[in-house]
Amino acid sequence: MTTILDVARVSGLSTATISRALRNPEKVAAETRERVLKAVREVDYRPNMLARNLRTDRSFTVLVLVPGITNPFFASVTAGIEATAWRRGYSVLIGDTCDSREREAHYAQLAETRLADGVIQLSPDYVPEDQRRPLPCPVVHACGCELTAAPSVRIDNAGAARELVEHLLARGHRRIGVISGSRENPHAIDRMKGYHRALATAGLGVDEALIQYGDFSMESGARAARALAALPDRPTALFSMNDEMAIGALQALSQAGLSVPGDMAVAGFDDIKFAAHTIPPLTTVAQPGAEMGATACDILLDRIEGKNQDNAVHILPHRLILRDSTGG
Ligand code: RIB
Repeated sequence: MTTILDVARVSGLSTATISRALRNPEKVAAETRERVLKAVREVDYRPNMLARNLRTDRSFTVLVLVPGITNPFFASVTAGIEATAWRRGYSVLIGDTCDSREREAHYAQLAETRLADGVIQLSPDYVPEDQRRPLPCPVVHACGCELTAAPSVRIDNAGAARELVEHLLARGHRRIGVISGSRENPHAIDRMKGYHRALATAGLGVDEALIQYGDFSMESGARAARALAALPDRPTALFSMNDEMAIGALQALSQAGLSVPGDMAVAGFDDIKFAAHTIPPLTTVAQPGAEMGATACDILLDRIEGKNQDNAVHILPHRLILRDSTGG
């Protein structure tokens, strides 16, 4: 069986340096780290993680709770988490909670049994302090909302939605429909505030007939767009609270024989990879998903390692991306 001594022989480094490089890669020079990894690969060394975990009472694993693993936005947040965890010598376990509290509780047990040293939560769900089940490890939110407890990372969802709706108003639209996420979803609530504020500033009231509720899926976006397009006095623009629902809406409008943006402008939210490739390309709000994940992961690992008890809300910048679906 290959041991750490083989890695030492091939790399010419001491076993102490090798252990340090594998356990705390950020504590050794990049060149040393590379030498160790090259030798590890060469001799196919697999450290006895179980023994290491027992020795240190740590698993060097982070649990990431994703509300919907097929959503490309959450994939980019998770990629940012994974890259940071890897750089700092940790592995990532992913639990797809499918937005279900029951699944969330099931995965949280992994943290309780010490199979993970900390948890990164991607769901924005706001749980009041007295109803929160305390976990025996640090928890950081990577996609928080206005009410999410710190430490957390988020964008200004209300501000971003407001800018997007103001862009539609500046294009002359006065009947702006909304494809919202579910009524209880905290991101949907924050983004709806932005819609209301933009209309109020323009001196316009909210027409509830122009608001449809989906569940952030393409299918629900298509359903909502069909309903809005069928209104006798249909909207001339749609603000969809994520890109996936906007993509569903584009398809439904095309099937209904409506042109975008001629008959109805459409805007999304997230700037997933596909947004630039729809027909026409989608105007949207870019959330810095990978950076949100990386920032949340750094905060979590600093807390796990006792380096920094950062207990702040980090609001990262968003960007408005103007494309042809709203006339550019
Ligand atoms: O949960 C679904 C949506 O909320 C995502 O598409 C993203 O916008 C997130 O913030």
